[in-house]
Amino acid sequence: MQISVRYREVNVKAANGLMTGQPLFFEHPGMKALENLLGLEEVRQNSQEICACAVMQKRRQAAGLKAEPLSLHMIFKGSPGTGKTTAARAYGAILKEAGLLKKGHLVEVERADLVGEYIGHTAVKTREAVERALGGVLFIDEAYALAQGGERDFGREAIATLVKSMEDHKEELVVILAGYRQEMEAFLSVNPGLRSRFPIQLDFRDYEAEELFRIALKMYEEREYSLESRARWRLKELSETMARERTPDFGNARAVRNLVEQSIRRQALRLFQEERWEREKLITIEKEDLPDVRKE
Ligand SMILES: Nc1ncnc2c1ncn2[C@@H]1O[C@H](COP(=O)(O)OP(=O)(O)OP(=O)(O)O)[C@@H](O)[C@H]1O
Ligand SMILES: [Mg+2]
Repeated sequence: MQISVRYREVNVKAANGLMTGQPLFFEHPGMKALENLLGLEEVRQNSQEICACAVMQKRRQAAGLKAEPLSLHMIFKGSPGTGKTTAARAYGAILKEAGLLKKGHLVEVERADLVGEYIGHTAVKTREAVERALGGVLFIDEAYALAQGGERDFGREAIATLVKSMEDHKEELVVILAGYRQEMEAFLSVNPGLRSRFPIQLDFRDYEAEELFRIALKMYEEREYSLESRARWRLKELSETMARERTPDFGNARAVRNLVEQSIRRQALRLFQEERWEREKLITIEKEDLPDVRKE
């Protein structure tokens, strides 16, 4: 991707952080969005490298040096609810801020949005999706599904059209393919040409019990709720149960969000039935607002 950097004061300040060991680019709204996600160090590191590169390319150009375009297409591998879509949206904002994309919006599609029902239809649908994403990020969820229909499936046409569009719009589009780790690996091995076109591969690993717990606490805090100490214990036990009993389709942080929202609804109903509802009560989640911990 060609660097036509309209970088701002903030980039320069932040790039100087590279030398001093300060966290980079933390003022970017996109970076702040990433900051709100727990873990994901690899993602943070990668996004900072890209921003630093954008600034350095500009400086190299100014010094009359070569500035090779960066290829920023990515593959996000991970289970449901591990932050892939959220991170892709943040990347859009970050790349815009770094001057690498004009708009930085996210267009999220899946197989059905790209693959048509008759000959010629697929190329049209895929190109339409690309058009919508120009200036931003085209995020293809469960991308491996494009290769699951066999030799004569239109999914292959979608892949070919996509690759062609990536060439045609080199500097206007970042494509992110996302999906389960194993399926994405299999997908890349049957489409070896794709691997080199998507040089950035990031792993979104499953969250452990402690991380699920901390994500829940953060979600309560963001919503201005706090947990009474027995509720905290129950939440901890629930996090452990969720992590221990996880199945491949376990929703990770999304499952946590559902739990948090369920407890907020239960608290609402409990308070609704009470006569007094001072501020402290409106804030507090009690143990009984959380579901029972199932014992094996
Ligand atoms: N590390 C995290 N810290 C806090 N919240 C998180 C984290 N990861 C995900 N979330 C929250 O979990 C929810 C689901 O995240 P997201 O939609 O990005 O997951 P996903 O990986 O795209 O899932 P899927 O594969 O099912 O589409 C969002 O509300 C998001 O804010
Ligand atoms: Mg998603």
